[in-house]
Amino acid sequence: MSERLAIHGGERVRRRPWPAWPERGEPEREALLRVLESRNWGGFPSPNTEARAFCEAFAGYVGAPFAVPCTNGTQTLTLALQAGRVSPGAEVVTSVYTFVGTASAIVAAGAIPVFVDVLPDSYCLDPEQVEAAIGPRTEAVLPVHLACSMADMDRLPALARKHGLLLVEDCAHAHGAAWRGQGAGSIGDLGSFSMQSTKLMTAGEGGVVTARDPVHEQRLQSLVNCGRKEPGYDGYPEQMMGWNARMTEWQAAVLRAQLERLPGQHARRAERIAQLEEEIAAVPGLAPLPPQEPVSHRTAYMFILRYAAEAFAGLPRDAVLLALQAEGVPCYGRFYVPLTEDPLFARDPHTNAAVRAGARFDEREFPVAARAAYEESIWLPHELFLGGPDEVRDLVAAFAKVQRGAEALRERPPEGRPAR
Ligand SMILES: Cc1ncc(COP(=O)(O)O)c(C=O)c1O
Repeated sequence: MSERLAIHGGERVRRRPWPAWPERGEPEREALLRVLESRNWGGFPSPNTEARAFCEAFAGYVGAPFAVPCTNGTQTLTLALQAGRVSPGAEVVTSVYTFVGTASAIVAAGAIPVFVDVLPDSYCLDPEQVEAAIGPRTEAVLPVHLACSMADMDRLPALARKHGLLLVEDCAHAHGAAWRGQGAGSIGDLGSFSMQSTKLMTAGEGGVVTARDPVHEQRLQSLVNCGRKEPGYDGYPEQMMGWNARMTEWQAAVLRAQLERLPGQHARRAERIAQLEEEIAAVPGLAPLPPQEPVSHRTAYMFILRYAAEAFAGLPRDAVLLALQAEGVPCYGRFYVPLTEDPLFARDPHTNAAVRAGARFDEREFPVAARAAYEESIWLPHELFLGGPDEVRDLVAAFAKVQRGAEALRERPPEGRPAR
């Protein structure tokens, strides 16, 4: 193979397609036909037959007493905060380094997001900065388990208890991850999961809220079902304004099949990621985030490598990303940027009630998140790890080739910057 970098016209390292996502087959086909023939397609009565069965299985998998089906992983966060009775205008402390949905859900729940920086080794909420951000109006903490890391589930629950705050885990990346044997989504008061197309299990769209308190579960069942009370969840006094956030039977049936696949997929990814961690050690300037000792089951929605420019002729990370993409490696750098700089977290007062209420989001800097977003992180999607050893060898070969070609890349740097 020519050593000329693909971005300079050389041969690409990876010419074959990567493993396709999502995986699907007879179980999903059978599930969809089962729903088709039933003529019972929607989410009503709520939870409907497939949704109830899926949520029972999902709750068991996560280790949470309850799981409530929902439309997506943004609405789940909103409803989790509403089920936890976060007051209008209350503050919710959350990570600045996450998807916009984490913050927009807080606003949709009538609260104000208070952003906090992340830890350099996990890119998840820094508990010390969380404690410093807690004030008289704080009512909840919303950590995000990010990519292949978990937020600190020793210190954050302790902080929430100490200050009497609701703890809602954003588990959109962490289906099946565990901290000291406890599943993500079963540790806080409530957990929020997304089943959107790219996630570790998917029905194209979908979401689940896990809960430990039966009152939260009853409120959630009501909130997703237009505020109705139905037999089985009518045992609490409040009447709330709800939404139609019901999961369809199509989604639930597919998710039942996807859940069956999940443990095997996690095991396959873990094997390939272990291979990557071993082989990447030979490539200077690239290293995985350090292991988190309390994480008893690590999952990877995205696997993150940390980039050190010194080993790449001082090149900015984005130049290396472009060269890697040219070699055929799907990888991202600005997968997330600090939300205070994310155009998706718009300051439009018509749609952002927190801005309307006078909240400011541009007064602080978040150096760890900014470094991760703009200089340091390389995000690899999880499906790259669903293939065999050859796939990982190609990944490492592409990284090594670009590293060896760093001087050439510096002499002829690529124009533009990666889309993400
Ligand atoms: C961390 C995080 N939170 C929330 C969400 C929102 O989930 P959804 O896209 O299902 O609304 C996502 C999904 O992209 C996410 O990555």
